[in-house]
Amino acid sequence: MSEPLWWRDGVIYQVYPRSFADANGDGIGDLQGIRYKLPYLAELGVDALWISPIYPSPMADFGYDVSDYRGIDPLFGDIETMDALLADAHALGLKVILDFVPNHSSDEHPWFRDSRRSRSSAYRDWYIWRDTAPDGGPPNNWLSNFGGSAWTFDAATGQYYLHLFLDKQPDLNWRHPVLREAMYDVMRFWLRRGVDGFRVDVLYHVMKDEAFRDNPPNPAYREGIDSEANRFLPVHTADLPETMGIVAAMRSVVDEFPERVLIGELYLPLERIVAYYGERLDGANLPFNFLLIGAPWNARFIADLAQRYEAALPVGGWPNWVLGNHDKPRIASRVGDAQARVAAVLLLTLRGTPTMYYGDEIGMHDVPIPFAEVRDPFERNEPGKGLGRDPQRTPMRWYPREGAGFTRGIPWLRMGDDVATRNVATQSDDPDSLLSLYKSLLRLRRQSEALSRGDFRLLAVDDSVMVYERRTASECYVVALNFGDQSVAPPVMLPGDLVLSTVSDPLTGTLKPAEARIHRL
Ligand code: NOJ
Repeated sequence: MSEPLWWRDGVIYQVYPRSFADANGDGIGDLQGIRYKLPYLAELGVDALWISPIYPSPMADFGYDVSDYRGIDPLFGDIETMDALLADAHALGLKVILDFVPNHSSDEHPWFRDSRRSRSSAYRDWYIWRDTAPDGGPPNNWLSNFGGSAWTFDAATGQYYLHLFLDKQPDLNWRHPVLREAMYDVMRFWLRRGVDGFRVDVLYHVMKDEAFRDNPPNPAYREGIDSEANRFLPVHTADLPETMGIVAAMRSVVDEFPERVLIGELYLPLERIVAYYGERLDGANLPFNFLLIGAPWNARFIADLAQRYEAALPVGGWPNWVLGNHDKPRIASRVGDAQARVAAVLLLTLRGTPTMYYGDEIGMHDVPIPFAEVRDPFERNEPGKGLGRDPQRTPMRWYPREGAGFTRGIPWLRMGDDVATRNVATQSDDPDSLLSLYKSLLRLRRQSEALSRGDFRLLAVDDSVMVYERRTASECYVVALNFGDQSVAPPVMLPGDLVLSTVSDPLTGTLKPAEARIHRL
């Protein structure tokens, strides 16, 4: 075995900063709150936290609209608190990954303010400006991921600017060499402060077609159901060949510092995700694999998915798995409470770096948000399609009391009505809770080279059960997952000693409904 490497052997935990812990009582989570909770993360047994954007922002997209890439929004704290957070995390053996948002800035970023001031601004071409089309409309048919045209007309200079998200999120022009260097310097600024890596927002969008050709219609588009952006296939706005050069350059910047990581956000088909490792493994260390998020929850599909992903990986490319994030419905809501336990075992025993989403370890569900309380611009723009992301962003619950120990003020999103049972304190005292299961899994994984770094081999699958092994030369574990709600005999005999099960009183020779178990040989 090679030397240990934190981002390969460890587990990443995503913190959505607005919703993790609010130290100053304004109802919105902050960096000081995260600092207070670092011992919890260390005790839980994760290795790194990824914090969604904390930079100054008008918060039109809750921080994914950055108005200063080198600062901290006062809502979250200040740069001194960030430095203290980094120091505390490192003292506890935790790494810290920041979100990097290169595709677009806020329209309130000084670069964009200058860019829109005049056609001759030095910053004009740091963004993407085009003339009105001959028919009098926007330059082409590109759509915003949040609905409507991706072009907004700016009367002051008589041109349109491009925004693949909100009009308050103008796209940066990554074809401009000076802009590129400015952004690489932003990365260095944080890496020098001790940040351990970046999760790069919509990495696959940074380059757009140089000729600004229309995107072709999507024949599978369902009117009134799908988000409007899906009306066209993003052939000219996503995953362009030129993107790989940018990814490699970002990777070189990260590699100027020891043991840092570059993670790319990519909503792409399997064969395209793995391209982002780079032809010479000079791309992202971890191109995010979101395949489990949309997967039908059944044994055959997931067994096949794991095999297809393993087979598609380039030699030397290290896999990774994700069950949920701040953009997608929570796992417990997708598969139910019983299967959320199976999902925990799956995530933490497949081969590859797992990324957990805050609150999934206590089985938080999506919290329905009445329309009057909707905060997410996606839901406001395309209401009623189930696209809104507030339900999965509700505050973390620490204690069974008013405000759940998240805040002493009024939480920015409602807490949900199951705080009494789904909270850290209550589940910590219960050896059968989901939180206790996560802790056991994380402990087992950390102690075992086979589970953290060993080979993966599918042993058997049938209609309800998937069985696989994780193996090194000296160690082997067999994992069996029952995706069904019936007691069943596994498709192969499970050898060795039972070391973990998701149910109390597991039986020999039978898997109970929604039972997942791990055997050691
Ligand atoms: C992906 C982020 O995860 C999402 O929350 C955000 O709205 C878009 N990128 C735009 O930055």
